[in-house]
Amino acid sequence: MHPIIDSFQKAGQGQVFSFFDQLTPEGQSRLIAEAAEIDLVEVERLNRTLVAKSAAVGVDLDGLAPAPYEPLPLHGGNAAAWQEAKRAGEAALRAGRVAAFTVAGGQGTRLGFDGPKGTFPVTPLTRKPLFQVFAEKILAAGRRYGRPIHWFIMTSHQNHAATEAFFLERRHFGLDAAYVHFFRQGRMPAVTFDGKIMLETIGSLALSPDGHGGSLRALERSGALDLMTREGIDILSYFQVDNPLVRCIDPAFIGWHVVSGSEMSSKMIPKAYAGEKVGHFCTQRGKTVVVEYSDLPAALQAEVDPATGQLRYLAGSIALHVLSRDFIRRMAAGGEGVALPFHRADKKIPTVDAAGRPVKPEKPNGIKFEMFVFDALPYAARPLVIETLRADDFSPVKNAEGVDSPQTCRDDQMRQFARWLNAHGAGLAVDATGRPVIPVEVSPLFGYDEDSFADAWRRLPAPPVAGPAGLLLD
Ligand code: UTP
Repeated sequence: MHPIIDSFQKAGQGQVFSFFDQLTPEGQSRLIAEAAEIDLVEVERLNRTLVAKSAAVGVDLDGLAPAPYEPLPLHGGNAAAWQEAKRAGEAALRAGRVAAFTVAGGQGTRLGFDGPKGTFPVTPLTRKPLFQVFAEKILAAGRRYGRPIHWFIMTSHQNHAATEAFFLERRHFGLDAAYVHFFRQGRMPAVTFDGKIMLETIGSLALSPDGHGGSLRALERSGALDLMTREGIDILSYFQVDNPLVRCIDPAFIGWHVVSGSEMSSKMIPKAYAGEKVGHFCTQRGKTVVVEYSDLPAALQAEVDPATGQLRYLAGSIALHVLSRDFIRRMAAGGEGVALPFHRADKKIPTVDAAGRPVKPEKPNGIKFEMFVFDALPYAARPLVIETLRADDFSPVKNAEGVDSPQTCRDDQMRQFARWLNAHGAGLAVDATGRPVIPVEVSPLFGYDEDSFADAWRRLPAPPVAGPAGLLLD
């Protein structure tokens, strides 16, 4: 018997090979190769911990308190310290110490777009894809600081080839291809409610990406950390593929990370309302943690600080982090007590029945396991949380319609462009929400943040004029 089949049988997972005899020799090799990817010891541990427990088991709230954060000068923060942080970040960029990192391995099921999410056309006027927006911000920042910036992009098995092909076809959006690095994240098998690894078809396992937390071990495994070491890069600016508003290279954020000697820094936004569906930055037993909205009791979410009149648990996480290379390496190496936990999600998982016929379940029939990158925070030395404004950093495209949709994101981009323009006297008409009345788009190659925009504006020979489609600055 093949040693892989033997190990699965010994682990009580022999069902994976129920239809082995019906497969062609190539099909058999493929299934063996997939099975070889599975860490049976890890699955067994998850079965004992996450699967055996009911999904309703609550999280530990003992000793929980809101995490402190560095407020913006606008909200009482120390303006001189912010200036100093910005200078430190600019120096790190000029020294070539910073790389950009996009996690783009998600399945994007809510958006329902056919293709890698990063290829989704997102800008209001020219419909640039998400990847192009980031590429141009990174290109422009590299020019500004006199050092091209390396960009790591984490894909999944499912979207890797399509992502690479998209970049090739679009000539890497003007970036030097030698500075753009793609690597696949790991996969985890789905299991039934009694812990059996599931098949998707008779010849393949039900595998899915291991969550954005899988990025830490994938960065190591792919050689990205070695490349960073060779290139003298020790700081990674982490952001998600669905958020074109992000300042993916933000000198103040990078600088706060450097000045405070933090190993992992994060941006918070003040929650818009008590029940907003974001993770909450908290402290617990001396560690910084993120507690998901689904795990924080509604009463705590709504608690008001009498001194300020604001929500006590105000700091919402928007998945923006700066990480130190050596910290990622330590997390990836794991070892006693150092590992990101897995989270359990009960899902409808396409599978096969006992006769090998396809089954499309109507209700959850199995469990997926994912790691979350913010679970690294408790392991980081001197973790730091700084405030940012939603309008400057966060408008994700998650859903096809309604909140966090392409429409809300286009509107938020236009509000940002209009703010930059009107700060320089463009006199653009806007509605009560700040949205310009005509379509507006500013290319990141013109200006990708307030500073770069201001510089480009000063160099304009004459004020821009709107065309029939709207106002475009590129
Ligand atoms: P989301 O939580 O929005 O998940 O990912 P998703 O899979 O993209 O979308 P839905 O839930 O199916 O609609 C947040 C970010 O984390 C990345 C995504 O690509 C996105 O940038 N991510 C998520 C990964 O890179 N890998 C994963 O396994 C999960």
